[in-house]
Amino acid sequence: MKAVMALTGLVMIGFLLMHMYGNLKAFLGAEAFDHYAHWLKTDILYPLVPQGSFIWLFRAFLLLCIVAHMYAAAVLTGRAHAARSSKYVTTDRIQQTYSARTMRWGGVLIAGFLVFHLLQFTVQVVTPGFTPGISAYQMVVLSFQQWWLVLAYAIWIVAVCMHVRHGVWSALTTLGAHTSPGARRFLDGLAWVIAVLLFVGFMIMPVAVLLGWIS
Ligand code: HEM
Repeated sequence: MKAVMALTGLVMIGFLLMHMYGNLKAFLGAEAFDHYAHWLKTDILYPLVPQGSFIWLFRAFLLLCIVAHMYAAAVLTGRAHAARSSKYVTTDRIQQTYSARTMRWGGVLIAGFLVFHLLQFTVQVVTPGFTPGISAYQMVVLSFQQWWLVLAYAIWIVAVCMHVRHGVWSALTTLGAHTSPGARRFLDGLAWVIAVLLFVGFMIMPVAVLLGWIS
């Protein structure tokens, strides 16, 4: 179960890095952003696979990873609770980072906002600030011209990055990379770099829209 969590978690971090890179294309203008969004949905891997089919294969794979990740988390949580010798709560904590302690509830929060995110940008049934069916660029710009949405996304991305910070470390440890104190320091550094990169990479575009640098 730990290996399932590690592997699916790393796949999702790979997705996040790609998604972040795609979002940054907003800095290149409407045409570049919309062209990229269109390419992802229709032309990617064409003619190797029929036009428009890769995105569905990818979505199915990503969904499978999310479900497996959450299922493994639930099973491991159940086992951890069952393994407790006493039902009484102890206030003595082993040394743990804040990210490590918030993995379970952080995961629930991330999944909850992800549903909102998909209803907003993919299904387009929750459309604060824009009308459904406009271009991807217009949709994103009109959304993030609203400060409260930028704030909501900032809170979500902080939760995602905290989860990723501990997740990278934990996944690579599960997979056997934590072999020495030096390796531990490396994993720690790597986890921080990825988390900070994701935070800056995801938030810079909504903030730029809010400040009017992208319009
Ligand atoms: C500021 C941060 C983010 C922005 C501006 C953003 C923007 C978008 C947009 C515009 C789309 C729709 C693309 C389209 O259909 O043309 C999308 C889809 C998606 N986003 Fe995000 N996103 C952000 C962060 C995230 C994060 C943190 C996650 C995961 C935890 C995520 C997961 C997804 C998923 C799963 C999809 C659906 C992809 C698909 O249609 O197959 N996004 N995002």
